[in-house]
Amino acid sequence: MALRKLIAGNWKMHGQLAMLVEIEEIGRATRGWPVDVAICPPATLIAAAVALQSGVAIGAQDAHAAVAGAYTGCLSTAMLVEAGATLCIVGHSERRAFNHETDAIVRAKAEAVAASGMTPIICVGETRADYEAGRAIDVIVAHLAGSLPNAHGALIVSYEPVWAIGSGRTPSVAEIATMHGVIREIVGLDIRILYGGSVNRTNAAELLAIDNVDGALVGGASLTAAAFVPIVEAAVAALGPPAVENNRSRG
Ligand code: PGA
Repeated sequence: MALRKLIAGNWKMHGQLAMLVEIEEIGRATRGWPVDVAICPPATLIAAAVALQSGVAIGAQDAHAAVAGAYTGCLSTAMLVEAGATLCIVGHSERRAFNHETDAIVRAKAEAVAASGMTPIICVGETRADYEAGRAIDVIVAHLAGSLPNAHGALIVSYEPVWAIGSGRTPSVAEIATMHGVIREIVGLDIRILYGGSVNRTNAAELLAIDNVDGALVGGASLTAAAFVPIVEAAVAALGPPAVENNRSRG
């Protein structure tokens, strides 16, 4: 039984109030579709995005692992839950690179997010140097060993090769299938495994049809409904034709 697909947008440091219309439009266009849709806007927009009641799940892009404390500029999971976030990305490669987040930090964040009731989206990905040296699988296995919570309920893993993010390049279908198969062996059957890195309306159908690709984490192409909705549409198309009973019940 395939897992329900999730198409999640990561707005990164893009978006002020004027961009909420994109979330409204994404919700309007995808209402009732048999896939999950989420947007992770900057934290300043979470409460306003939730208030739209658009049908799009609203997530955060990061959280601190501590419950509270002297951590200037950081946000706790309780703050994000209060704002209405139901998902939280942790361990994005940009935070691993620019904020020096280690696997241990990512694991602590994932545990805090899971304990808060939000679902963590835990990102793992190899650098271009790792990829070119043929070390991608080893790096991902190590990332997972270090970053996944020890005990976990619901969580989502996102495989995001660092060199594919924002570059217009993606691994081949065979490479993604192999990597997602490796991740599946580690996380088990009930964890969704997203692919992220230069997903767009042109390549989404091919990427979302790969075995063990349970959705996508989308950066640049999530910033407008016009770019994002076709990716959600590709996820629906990847489900194949509706079951015979469904056709019949529609009469
Ligand atoms: P991209 O970003 O889709 O712009 O490559 C993906 C991500 O960083 O989550």
